[in-house]
Amino acid sequence: MQKFKEGFLWGGALAANQSEGAYLKNGKGQSIIDILPVGVERKRGLKEPNYVMEQTFDYYPSHQSIDFYHHYKEDIHLLAELGIKCLRTSISWPRIFPNGDETQPNEAGLAFYDAVFDECLKYNIQLLVTINHFDTPLNLAQKYGGWQNKQLILFYRRYCKVLFERYHKKVRYWITFNEINMILRNPFLAGGIVKSGNKVDKETIFQAAHHQLLASAEATKLAKELDSNIQIGCMLAAGSVYPYTCNPKDVQAALERSREQYFFIDVQVNGCYPYFAHRYFEEHGIQLTISKEETALLAEHTVDFVAFSYYTSRLETVDSELRKNLIEGNAMASIRNPYLKDAGWGRQIDPLGFRITINEIYQRYQRPLFVVENGLGVEDTFDEGAIHDPYRIAYFRSHIEQMAEAVKDGVDLIGYTTWGCIDLISAGTGEMKKRYGFVYVDLDNEGHGSRKRYKKDSFAWYQKVIATNAAVL
Ligand code: BG6
Repeated sequence: MQKFKEGFLWGGALAANQSEGAYLKNGKGQSIIDILPVGVERKRGLKEPNYVMEQTFDYYPSHQSIDFYHHYKEDIHLLAELGIKCLRTSISWPRIFPNGDETQPNEAGLAFYDAVFDECLKYNIQLLVTINHFDTPLNLAQKYGGWQNKQLILFYRRYCKVLFERYHKKVRYWITFNEINMILRNPFLAGGIVKSGNKVDKETIFQAAHHQLLASAEATKLAKELDSNIQIGCMLAAGSVYPYTCNPKDVQAALERSREQYFFIDVQVNGCYPYFAHRYFEEHGIQLTISKEETALLAEHTVDFVAFSYYTSRLETVDSELRKNLIEGNAMASIRNPYLKDAGWGRQIDPLGFRITINEIYQRYQRPLFVVENGLGVEDTFDEGAIHDPYRIAYFRSHIEQMAEAVKDGVDLIGYTTWGCIDLISAGTGEMKKRYGFVYVDLDNEGHGSRKRYKKDSFAWYQKVIATNAAVL
């Protein structure tokens, strides 16, 4: 039985806002990420955007980050040595449209991505590009309130048109929004939503998500009209939801939680809101404004593939005592699973959950799948230039084994890009010490360090995995 098909896209993933730095360089505008500090203040800022908008902090990690902007040649060279077939990265929206609402793009920003993509293509590294990875231009949040405002569809459409026309010959795979369901947990990060008093009600979130769904459909339409070779994907922050016990009430609770997770992906794949949406909206006091034209747009322009991130599974119960034992990752909070090991930062390690999740998504959609984030965020020890990370190898080995099982189950999988293949800034905490990479970057949580790159032990291991199409794990 074959594990991974010929041409399987082994790779790594980065995001502009967590790696580029070069804040305001060559005409770049501010994004919502650029006003987020590090640590507890960042956590507060994600919940209370008005608080970070009114404050000045000593350190903003995105401003310099790992400075991929000036290191991209060296970094891509390292990734080529690693042997990756595909780099997932994102385009910084405010590098192209500094305020988001201009009519003309910033040529210097476009030229930077030309250079990055050309460098990848030089080594036969394919590109998978996320159009909006948490970095909505700050101006769109401040002036328009973010995605709750319908005008953002127009700005996003304009931005996509520029990207597709410029890069369609260089980039085949695109993702319209990073982890679209993240808006439910983090309306500011994922939707740039700003409200006075910071209280964001469910109706606002679902209306904003509706606008993103329309924008995604518009982007799909544009792309296909320009070049039928372009492949458009949606993206889910995934992780199957297990019932805590076999009490049917727990099973129902898990089902409902899982539905929330899939809500928007159901629209992007099936072209309409799921059958349970009507009741959900009614019970949560949500009234969306959806026109006939919008319904038709969603129906006509569905995605080609489903991309998703997987870090861990989730657990649900109706038991209020157990519900107090929550662990909080960046994407979701969950009850601690006693069968799983803790990995720190609110995550537990569940490789079998990866196989379960892949199958669950495939069963639901029957579209090609792309794992675009997976990995272990952990502190590494720098030992005179060496970084011994057997824990990372063990994590990836167990997850790739389970991914192989899913492929044997019959799932059509396009590729696998590990998160933060080069260490980068954490989206959730802004920390640098939460490292995911095969490449270590000399930088600490306060921004001190040479930014020099070092290969970790896991580098040679993943290199072999790719070279053998995972025959050697
Ligand atoms: C995903 C995001 O939610 O998780 C990434 O798409 C993020 O941007 C990743 O970095 C890991 O989370 P964190 O908080 O450890 O950076």
